[in-house]
Amino acid sequence: SGQTNVSLHINGQAKNLRLEPRTTLLDALREYMDLTGTKKGCDHGQCGACTVLVDGRRVNSCLTLAVMSQGKEITTIEGLAKGDDLHPMQEAFLKHDGFQCGYCTPGQIMSGVACVKEGHATSDDQCREWMSGNICRCGAYPNILAAVREVAG
Ligand code: FES
Repeated sequence: SGQTNVSLHINGQAKNLRLEPRTTLLDALREYMDLTGTKKGCDHGQCGACTVLVDGRRVNSCLTLAVMSQGKEITTIEGLAKGDDLHPMQEAFLKHDGFQCGYCTPGQIMSGVACVKEGHATSDDQCREWMSGNICRCGAYPNILAAVREVAG
């Protein structure tokens, strides 16, 4: 079936892809760009494993079409560290053991970054509410909360 040209700006780099118009941003990242840090859990907006930032705001990349993401700055988990320096949210997840199996972790971290940036991490309750779209089957929630709250300061 028909393919279309899509140019995306991901983690500071321009990428030109040829894909079907129905391709989600999640599949574009994982299958066309080898950016497999962003995870596919439910693929229908229920788990948060696929969370990325688009123009600084978090989105479920499984609910976003790649073609609709053109002209925007997309940040994935691969784009957070600066060289050898982890992002403060990554450091905090390490410090507080904010993961067990790790599958939900990239999405948790991206949500956590947006949570702090948008000012939703000023109390435990507010933070829990904001992070409630990111499911952790291992139940690492208390440690995830501790990590996000620490970065919020
Ligand atoms: Fe997108 Fe679950 S994979 S919300």
